[in-house]
Amino acid sequence: MQETSVCRICDGEVTEFIDFGKQPLADRFVAPGSSAPEMFYRLAVGSCSTCTMVQLLEEVPRESMFHEEYPYHSSGSSRMREHFAATAQRFIDTELTGPDPFIVELGSNDGIMLGTVAKAGIRHLGVEPSGGVADLAAAHGVRVRKDFFEESTAADVRATDGPADVIFAANTLSHIPYMDSVLRGVTTLLAPNGVFVFEDPYFADIVRKTSFDQIYDEHFYFFTARSIQEMAARNGLELVDVERLPVHGGEVRYTLARAGARQPTPAVADLLAEEKSVQLTERHTLEGFQRSVLKTRDDLVKLLRELRDSGKVVAGYGATAKSATVLNYCGIDSDLISYVSDSTPAKQGRVTPGTHIPVVSPEAFADDYPDYAVLFAWNHAEEILAKEEAFQKAGGRWIRYVPEVHLA
Ligand code: SAH
Ligand code: TYD
Ligand code: ZN
Repeated sequence: MQETSVCRICDGEVTEFIDFGKQPLADRFVAPGSSAPEMFYRLAVGSCSTCTMVQLLEEVPRESMFHEEYPYHSSGSSRMREHFAATAQRFIDTELTGPDPFIVELGSNDGIMLGTVAKAGIRHLGVEPSGGVADLAAAHGVRVRKDFFEESTAADVRATDGPADVIFAANTLSHIPYMDSVLRGVTTLLAPNGVFVFEDPYFADIVRKTSFDQIYDEHFYFFTARSIQEMAARNGLELVDVERLPVHGGEVRYTLARAGARQPTPAVADLLAEEKSVQLTERHTLEGFQRSVLKTRDDLVKLLRELRDSGKVVAGYGATAKSATVLNYCGIDSDLISYVSDSTPAKQGRVTPGTHIPVVSPEAFADDYPDYAVLFAWNHAEEILAKEEAFQKAGGRWIRYVPEVHLA
């Protein structure tokens, strides 16, 4: 049955369009032999009939997701290191040219972006609740406050450091259900002509690629230009620029300014028009997405069963948070995938949430290549395929499931 909930942006009615059932927390890798029960929640997504924001119907408490042992390390990808070094440099060259500029980042993780700002000697602050990754950033000279960004944090920062010329968040704003508090915080902290810039997976790319694995507990919102424009307008802000990014399977970088402070670029109207022409958040589009998800699930499970029945060894590559939705929703466990290779030390030696597939190091993967490997970190395909050329040379085949199930 399609359920409804109240929109976290505008109090409108959110109607469900896809339900993945009970899911474990995507980044809770389990220590083998652990007897502590895993936490499950209901993963379902809907869209608001008033402001169009696509959002989860159930919220997971933030402390359950973001804590001392949060295992996601942003700097695990060389391509992402380059992306964020370039992002920082662009801010330094454009927005941070005044006499004593100040930039605040929400979700600064291990310092992948602010590291470049710190090296340039520019005043900055990372606001990052996950203690382990915050410590890594601090060890690289980044100034971090271990906290969740919300209205009270913003007021505090404003009182001690003054207004921010740039407030930046990558793959973080979409993780924060309590948007009302965050936006009040942004308007408190932002300088009169400052910009609030954030980049997150673009819902249009998710629909186009059937990349339903972007949907899990931490990803509460799925943004579009239209929903961000509405959200900004409700909070005294204005969407003044959009830029499509190729990272993480397709993102958009949104720039907000105080209403009337900056002239919107033509890119804003162009993207709004494009979303309208493809009827991005219309019912029939969302229902089409749901049908494509079912097809990917059926095709993937069928392929993995055939390979198992013919005695092939299949591994996974990249113990991503995204893979939790694929594995749990498709009912794939160690019967179909023997192990998953991942470069993150904190994930190795553990088992995947809910499905309990062992996570091993890339060295163990290379020691004894499987016949097939499912590329769960498909958003890093170029980097990984280049790195793992020897796997294919040894006869290994990649299994991809975005935009549809195929061998590569
Ligand atoms: N910006 C990095 C990290 C993204 S992961 C990148 O793009 O790779 C999301 C991060 O947001 C996590 O490190 C998490 O701890 C942090 N986070 C979650 N809620 C937050 C909040 N309310 N304020 C600031 N950071 C938050
Ligand atoms: P990512 O796709 O960035 O995010 P999420 O967990 O939010 O879905 O995660 C990439 C994972 O893949 C991360 O655990 C590190 C791992 N990885 C490798 O094992 N090798 C690599 O070369 C790269 C780039 C990532
Ligand atoms: Zn709404």
